[in-house]
Amino acid sequence: MSVYQATASAPVNIAVIKYWGKRDTKLILPTNSSLSVTLDQDHLRSTTTSRADPAFTQDTLWLNGKIDEIKAGGRLETCIREMKRLRKEIIEDKDASAPKLSEYKVHIASYNNFPTAAGLASSASGFAALVSSLAQLYSLVPPVVSPSTLSLIARQGSGSACRSLYGGFVAWEQGVRPDGSDSLAIEVAPQAHWPEMHALICVVSDTKKGTSSTSGMQRTVETSTLLQHRIKEVVPARMAAITTAIQQRDFDTFARITMADSNSFHAVCLDTEPPIFYLNDVSRAIISVVVEYNRLSVERGEGYKAAYTYDAGPNAVIYALEKDIKEIIQLVLAYFPQTAGEFKDVLGVFGGSVQDV
Ligand code: PMV
Repeated sequence: MSVYQATASAPVNIAVIKYWGKRDTKLILPTNSSLSVTLDQDHLRSTTTSRADPAFTQDTLWLNGKIDEIKAGGRLETCIREMKRLRKEIIEDKDASAPKLSEYKVHIASYNNFPTAAGLASSASGFAALVSSLAQLYSLVPPVVSPSTLSLIARQGSGSACRSLYGGFVAWEQGVRPDGSDSLAIEVAPQAHWPEMHALICVVSDTKKGTSSTSGMQRTVETSTLLQHRIKEVVPARMAAITTAIQQRDFDTFARITMADSNSFHAVCLDTEPPIFYLNDVSRAIISVVVEYNRLSVERGEGYKAAYTYDAGPNAVIYALEKDIKEIIQLVLAYFPQTAGEFKDVLGVFGGSVQDV
């Protein structure tokens, strides 16, 4: 008897141009394009195993060992259904001898090796790993199906998940079509283009965040006037400028835009009614340290050396070049000793770990 099973893993990605706001909540179509770096290292990954079997009676998902309900019409169901549809269309309808896996129920087990829903983009790696494992199970892999096509499906699980289908520097183009068929991820540059780029994750808190990105975005879209300015006037120019900065490996420009966009995103959160606060005192203190560190560096004529960015939570991600990483880790740990209890951990990812530097 054949066993139909596949395992795939996907890393988290951290946006430097933030996605915040949906123009279509069902299809998860964004109000602006976004751009991220995929943190392609071992400590921040989701690993998912999928198995199709005619004996299974219903699609079932275990998240970190616990059953997670697959709600009718929900995002999990949408992703599983869309992957089965792709399997049928691309494989089974074209080859009568291909096993009819699209008709079997699936069992899926997914594990995150980091805290779930702590502002560390677990939904991004989670849905990307889910779609990747089903893609392998169903033989929907390149050159038959591109990561961009799979990103259309991962997007419907969690918007930011579409960007984790590629490594390196990835854009999610918002698209214009109402059916979402052009709202997908594209590779801006592979990791090997700029291997000196590192990311430090400063875990300020690993507890679950207060306002989910879904409800936060909805409130911002409904109430913030600043969001309109952001999506029309600010983001398009930044997308173009940061793409060029990445192509030219221009860290100074990359850092300025990254920090400006993080500030802009948290400003629209504050402009929401009622306001949303994702940053806490430690997050803001980290911003001050990075600002001062860059100011001294610019004064010496060395340009910007560190770029902070924050998602929907208090944890800082600091992008920096490899040559400066050691100094930055020392700086962060000197200002925020783990023993003070206000700071949990520093993880170095994307091209190296803290232990290596
Ligand atoms: O994909 P979601 O619903 O988890 O939203 C992600 C939103 C941010 O992380 C704040 C920004 C981004 O582009 O990843």
